[in-house]
Amino acid sequence: MKKVYIETFGCQMNEYDTELVRAILTKEKYEFTSSPEDAEIILLNTCSVRENANRKVYGRIHKIRSEKGKERVLIGVLGCMATNFRQDLLKDPNLPIDFVVGPDSYKRLPNLIREVEEEGKKAFDVTLSEFETYSDVYPLREGGVNAWIAVMRGCDNFCTFCVVPYTRGRERSRSPESVLEEIRRLAQEGFRQVTLLGQNVNSYRYEGKDFADLLEMVSKVDGIERIRFTSPHPKDFPERLIEVIAENPKVCKHIHLPLQAGNDRILDLMNRTYTQKEFLELVEKLRDRIPGLVLTTDIIVGFPTETDEEFEDTVKVVREVEFDSAFIFKYSERPKTIAARKYPDDVPEEVKTERIVRLNEIQKEISLKKNRAHIGEVHEVLIEEERTKKSDQDYQGRNDGNKIVIFPKGNYGRGQFVEVKIEDATANVLKGRVIKVLEK
Ligand code: 5AD
Ligand code: SF4
Repeated sequence: MKKVYIETFGCQMNEYDTELVRAILTKEKYEFTSSPEDAEIILLNTCSVRENANRKVYGRIHKIRSEKGKERVLIGVLGCMATNFRQDLLKDPNLPIDFVVGPDSYKRLPNLIREVEEEGKKAFDVTLSEFETYSDVYPLREGGVNAWIAVMRGCDNFCTFCVVPYTRGRERSRSPESVLEEIRRLAQEGFRQVTLLGQNVNSYRYEGKDFADLLEMVSKVDGIERIRFTSPHPKDFPERLIEVIAENPKVCKHIHLPLQAGNDRILDLMNRTYTQKEFLELVEKLRDRIPGLVLTTDIIVGFPTETDEEFEDTVKVVREVEFDSAFIFKYSERPKTIAARKYPDDVPEEVKTERIVRLNEIQKEISLKKNRAHIGEVHEVLIEEERTKKSDQDYQGRNDGNKIVIFPKGNYGRGQFVEVKIEDATANVLKGRVIKVLEK
C-alpha cells in the first residue's frame, strides 16, 4: 500500500472531487494519510479562480519539496490549475512536480501514477470531457452530517471574468436515477443533509427533467431531512423552482445568489445576462414567495473600467437587498477569459482595496443587524460539530438558513436536530441555548 496525502484548495466542487479521487485510488493499491510527512505521493487539488489561489499552490509545492529534502515523493497537481501546470511543465521540465491531472481525468489517475513510477517520466492528462460525470464512482467521504453531491459539472455561461468554463469544460448533468441512488445510500449511512453541487446548479437538465424536478425527487428520500444547493445563477429561476423551494419543507430556505456587480454597464461587460433592475425584481419575488429566506451573494469589485459611480451602484444594491452575508473579491485577471482578452485590468490596486474595504464594512453592519434581528427566535439546528473553533464547551450547527449557531454542549450530539433559542449574535454567528431535542 502506497500512502497518499491530498490537499484541497478552492470550492466545494473541489472538496467533492477529492472524495472521488480518494475512492478511485483506494480501489487500487493506495491508502490515504492525513499527514504529508508520511506520504509517498502528495496530491494538490487546485483552484484557479483568482490569482491568489494560484500563488498559494506554487508556494505549497516549493514548501513540500524543501520539507521532504532528498526523500522520494511524487507530487501530482489535480484540479483547475492542471492545464496551467501542464504548460509550465512543458516550458520547464525541472518544475518539481511529477504528474498533472485535470478534473475530467481522475479515473486515469492510477494509470498515470504507474507511468511515472515505472517509466520515470512526467505524466499528464488534462483532456476535458463532454460526458464525464463520475456517476459510477461512489465518493469516499469522511463522514459527518452533510454530504456533497455533484449533480452537474462544467459551465456554459462564459461570464467574462471566469476561468471555470476553460478549466472544467462544458455543462453536463447526471441522471436523476444515479443521483437518487447515491442519496439513498447516503441516507442509509446516516447522512441527514445533502448539498447538491454544480458550477451552475439550477441549469441542471437531464432528459426533460430540470432542477425543480430533481429537488422534488431528492426530497422523497427517507432519512434526508435537509437539502441545500450551490451555486445557482440568477438567470435560471423559473416559477416552478421558486415554488418547490418555497413549499418543500426539506429544501432549505437559503439561496446563494451571486450579484457580481450592481451596475448595468459592468453587468453587461461581465456577460451576466441580467440588469440591476432584474436582479432586484428577482430578489423581491424570492423574498415574497419564500418567507424567512436567507440570501447570500458573491461580488467582484474593480472589474476593468469600473468607475467610482458604477461601484456606487453595487453599494446601492448591497444596501437595498441587505444580503445576510457576502463574499467580496477584487477582480483578478484570469488567462484565456474573455475579459483578459478584451478588457485591460485597469482599476488600480489601491482603488480595488478601497472598494473592497468599504463594501466589507457596509456588509458587516448589515450582517450584524440581520443576525441580531433573530434574537428571541427559536431555530431548528442540525448539530455539526461537538466543539467550536474557540471552545470545547460549545457545540455548533446550522439553522435552515445555513447560519452557524453556537450553544453550550449537552445531552445531544452530532447529527441530531435541536431547537435553539437565539440569545445573542455577531455578524458571523448566532448564539443561544437548546430548549428541545427533536426526534427526527
Ligand atoms: N476575479 C475575482 N473574483 C472572481 N470570481 C470568479 N472569477 C473571478 C475573478 N476573475 C468570484 C465570483 C464567483 C466566485 C466563486 O469567485 O464572485 O462567484
Ligand atoms: Fe476554483 Fe472555480 Fe475550479 Fe472551484 S471550479 S476550484 S472555484 S476555479
